[in-house]
Amino acid sequence: MKRIAVLTSGGDAPGMNPTIRSIVLTAKAHDIEVIGVNRGYVGLMEGDLRPLDVSDVADIVDRSGTILYSARSHEFHTEAGMQKALAVCRENGIEGLVVIGGNGSIMGAKDLSERGLPCVGVTGTIDNDIGCCDYTTGYDTALSTIVDMIDRITDTTRSHWRCAVVEVMGRDAGYLALNGGIAAGATAILIPEVPFDVEKDVIDRIKAAKAKGKNYFVVVVAEGCSKQVESVQALAKRIEAETGVESRATVLGHVQRGGSPTLKDRVVGTRMGNYAVHLLMQGIGNRMVVIQNDEISDMDILEANSITKTLDRSLYDLAMEVSI
Ligand code: F6P
Repeated sequence: MKRIAVLTSGGDAPGMNPTIRSIVLTAKAHDIEVIGVNRGYVGLMEGDLRPLDVSDVADIVDRSGTILYSARSHEFHTEAGMQKALAVCRENGIEGLVVIGGNGSIMGAKDLSERGLPCVGVTGTIDNDIGCCDYTTGYDTALSTIVDMIDRITDTTRSHWRCAVVEVMGRDAGYLALNGGIAAGATAILIPEVPFDVEKDVIDRIKAAKAKGKNYFVVVVAEGCSKQVESVQALAKRIEAETGVESRATVLGHVQRGGSPTLKDRVVGTRMGNYAVHLLMQGIGNRMVVIQNDEISDMDILEANSITKTLDRSLYDLAMEVSI
């Protein structure tokens, strides 16, 4: 291949820029041109392209967000949308594409591969919810931010003998909430993967901790559970009414997607980007770059997407055993 393209799609994630950097530097080392596609599949359909040179990526390893911008597109998932994108690739001599994103974005890479454009999918999501990978780029940075933010909330919660109810991101997955809750010493953690009862799993736990002498509490709620508790604000009110502990709710929100990528997200992103280019150099498409036990390999995209990720229930049980 002489010219490949790269795009970022879906929610941005820390580690996307180190991945882009690695793709460009790897390709350049093998005399392959790289075209950056702005705004994900939207930009691919519109032909919003720009050449990426070494100087464009020289200083982005420590920056979060994505220099290529990101978007979510409904039109791309129609046949007409995909044909538009393929026409843009043909017109611009693009022979292969790397897609960085979450589950939905990577399925777009499968669709384009099936229509003749070799594509490789690389993870980029804070949610850590991709079945074929035990790690997704962005997760470590988001988790570190969550712990830092909850620690700050805990500082004031402790001073006032209050209960802090904190909602964290993760879409339908509870990895951020569970590990963030463990690291922040939460009294209760609600995640979508484990059925819960507010009375038993929140109120009773707070009462029991109070009886042991604890006077402040942190409850971490995965966003995938917030509807089940109505809202974190409603949960805080209920806790206050039933335990007598003054309570406050915080939705951490998009702060979780920012911040300089951690060492892990820089290194994993760099390894995955490099691997993706080596696949395309061999003319191999319709593959997902996979990471398991810190080893990188690749897999058919459809097969990769059919793997359901199951959260380690024993980690949840451990969290409940050691929390107060
Ligand atoms: O998938 C990443 C993620 O941050 C989820 O955790 C969250 O549910 C969603 O994206 C938020 O998306 P948006 O930025 O479009 O509000």
